[in-house]
Amino acid sequence: MSSRDFLWQEPSSATVERLEALAQRAFSLDEAQPFSEQTLVEARKWSRGESSAVRILEVCEAGETRGFAALVTDGDSCLLEAAVDPSARERGLGTALITEALTQVEGEVAAWVHGGPDASSSAMISAQKLAKSQGFVAQRELFKMGLALTDEARASILAAAEAAPLPADIRLETYTEKDAAGWVKANAAAFADHPEQGKLTLKDLEERTGSDWFRAEGFFLAKDGAGSIAGSHWTKIPHHQTGVLEGEVYAVGVTPDWQGKGLGRSLTLAGMAYLARTHYAPGKKLDRIVLYVDAENSPAVTLYRSLGFSPLTIDRQYLATTER
Ligand SMILES: CC(C)(COP(=O)(O)OP(=O)(O)OC[C@H]1O[C@@H](n2cnc3c(N)ncnc32)[C@H](O)[C@@H]1OP(=O)(O)O)[C@@H](O)C(=O)NCCC(=O)NCCS
Repeated sequence: MSSRDFLWQEPSSATVERLEALAQRAFSLDEAQPFSEQTLVEARKWSRGESSAVRILEVCEAGETRGFAALVTDGDSCLLEAAVDPSARERGLGTALITEALTQVEGEVAAWVHGGPDASSSAMISAQKLAKSQGFVAQRELFKMGLALTDEARASILAAAEAAPLPADIRLETYTEKDAAGWVKANAAAFADHPEQGKLTLKDLEERTGSDWFRAEGFFLAKDGAGSIAGSHWTKIPHHQTGVLEGEVYAVGVTPDWQGKGLGRSLTLAGMAYLARTHYAPGKKLDRIVLYVDAENSPAVTLYRSLGFSPLTIDRQYLATTER
């Protein structure tokens, strides 16, 4: 067997490039991203020497990258994500990588298992085994839901968006830089109960609006008569896609005072209509609209089901407490 090295990396852009390349290879096989967007945002800040909550562990064999683990500190707890290169699986690397990563954690650790059509998928079964051996317990499920953009679906989305009324006094605009602070505030209010989305800062917003995928024309804001943001729908069309071309209902949020008044439905449809019309690249329409939602978020799951979405895959979060 070749020598195996576990390296806790110092900040460098080369490391992040290797991590992103490995994530892309894993995505090609698993059809699920192993690292969340916030982890990648933290990793890019880390690579530039900025203050960041991430620590990165790389495992190499004979100098070749075989896997990565990322630990993101969040208050008293820590998020763990890891991926093993598709060419190096089923020989104990995942267990070794996670065991090494956990030596650096004290307290609560959460780990996401991304992907799998249902609880009997191979991703979920191997994750379950690994989680059990490390003392992790499943605690949260996230659905990836999808809606195929057939010609018929496109036409019905456009008609429904046209017909969906906005509450009186509300107008729709698209995002400009001067909306940044107002959006962060409205997003925090709408997602007060959401463990990740509700914590987005101005810096996190700027990282995203500065990304190569960002299109302001697909970021819808609902403003009230005083110009305050009552809700928003941010769509996302990721770059470098192959196979099924997806557009995402990235985040729909309505501030508490405006919930239950039809604004969520109108905003969701406005973004869906944009995705139904927009091209990924010249001559290439999108094939599917997707979104990620907590399985227990019944207002949102009910809304999305009523608009024609159905679950495609499940992500599961596991929790453990380490005492060292
Ligand atoms: C999900 C959310 C966007 C819905 O917005 P809203 O403006 O309150 O929703 P609407 O008034 O337009 O209602 C649309 C549909 O949502 C569903 N819905 C809304 N509130 C609901 C509730 N409390 N329970 C169950 N279903 C609910 C219903 O299907 C409703 O359709 P109906 O009015 O025909 O029954 C809003 O609750 C919200 O911002 N939640 C916090 C952020 C969030 O979780 N976003 C989604 C995850 S990305």
